Amino acid sequence: MPAFDPETVRADFPILFREIAGKPLVYLDNGATTQKPQCVIDSMTRFFSNENANIHRGVHYLSREATDAYEGAREYLKAELRVPATHELIFVRGATEAINLVTHSLAPLLTEGDEVVLTVMEHHANFVPWQVLAKERGLILRFAGLRENGELNLEEWKALFTERTRVAAFTHVSNVLGTRNPVTEMTAFARERGVLTLVDGAQALPHGPVDLGAAGGDFYVFSGHKVYAPDGVGVLYGPKDLLNAAPPYQTGGDMIEQVSIEGTTFRQVPERFEAGTPNISGAIGLAEAFRYMSGIDWPAAHAHEDALAAHATSELEKIPGIRVFGKAPGKVAIVSFLYAAAHPHDVGTILDTEGVAIRVGHHCAQPLMHYLKVPATARASFSFYNNHADVETFLRAMKKVERFFG
Ligand SMILES: Cc1ncc(COP(=O)(O)O)c(C=O)c1O
Repeated sequence: MPAFDPETVRADFPILFREIAGKPLVYLDNGATTQKPQCVIDSMTRFFSNENANIHRGVHYLSREATDAYEGAREYLKAELRVPATHELIFVRGATEAINLVTHSLAPLLTEGDEVVLTVMEHHANFVPWQVLAKERGLILRFAGLRENGELNLEEWKALFTERTRVAAFTHVSNVLGTRNPVTEMTAFARERGVLTLVDGAQALPHGPVDLGAAGGDFYVFSGHKVYAPDGVGVLYGPKDLLNAAPPYQTGGDMIEQVSIEGTTFRQVPERFEAGTPNISGAIGLAEAFRYMSGIDWPAAHAHEDALAAHATSELEKIPGIRVFGKAPGKVAIVSFLYAAAHPHDVGTILDTEGVAIRVGHHCAQPLMHYLKVPATARASFSFYNNHADVETFLRAMKKVERFFG
């Protein structure tokens, strides 16, 4: 394992050397999407330059090669994520589609009065599909709250389980607070009670590998674009037996066994849930991103990310009127804050004039905004490729905000 050097990894991401309005880009919007290393970009260019063909159905050489590359990507990801034989990886569009696929698949198993345990820190992607399903099936949704520091109140969460609880869905890492939930403990607690789990891993995998066999519970989902891979591709990890018994989510080509005028029979996973031509190049880029991440010294990268976030937090808190949300121990490098003197949109707009990209708004977590009693926050989210110069530029730009509004 090579020693971790942020300047070396930075050189792998060409976009980080862009200028915005004559100023070097400072990209602190990694929670929204991450930048792509050259090897991921090259893997997709290589595919389109040399191997492009449709998969599975072709007898010709290129089609076989493209099929091998696509299925090879799945096998590589299964090994990297330690997927047990009981589970399968299904390529989808992203975390949102994966969660919708799960709520659709579980619908026939749920009846009126069944309960789903959620938390108030969920992204809308892991909230709205359950709300829609609850309305359709007459389910009861129960929500666990947080502690003062932004940690999940685990005792409250456990106390929500009753004999009617069928599913618990929770995020691995909060996209607003950076809180890292104890998913191994939570999935084990649910399993002991015969409750299915869905873990939203969208914000966890960008910060290092996850052993899905040990921590993933029943379902685990993530998006490619947040893990240094292309957009339009993501993964659903789920139990083969349950998914093979579930109705297909979409129907059409590639997912069928036999089609006749009288009726159609469907294939098993993964093809059962990959109707039509999938995002072949996206899957190849996703596997390449995991290959790239396997070369990162994660303990050192975490220490680096944490140092950036800790420095940003302590300096921000020196500005009168700044409130930082989320101080849970072991949180990932996401710093959400509110400045009393200015709306987050004004903060973001002024930072943009200095080349600093952050995200402002409700971060697709309106229930959490209500819980925190704030309309919106500004969010600086870090990756291992950010450096201390990025933090200094961000803090200098915040001084400009302070001069303007303070
Ligand atoms: C925690 C979390 N879950 C789910 C999503 C949805 O991901 P996507 O839009 O890629 O489907 C996001 C995106 O911000 C997220 O942060």
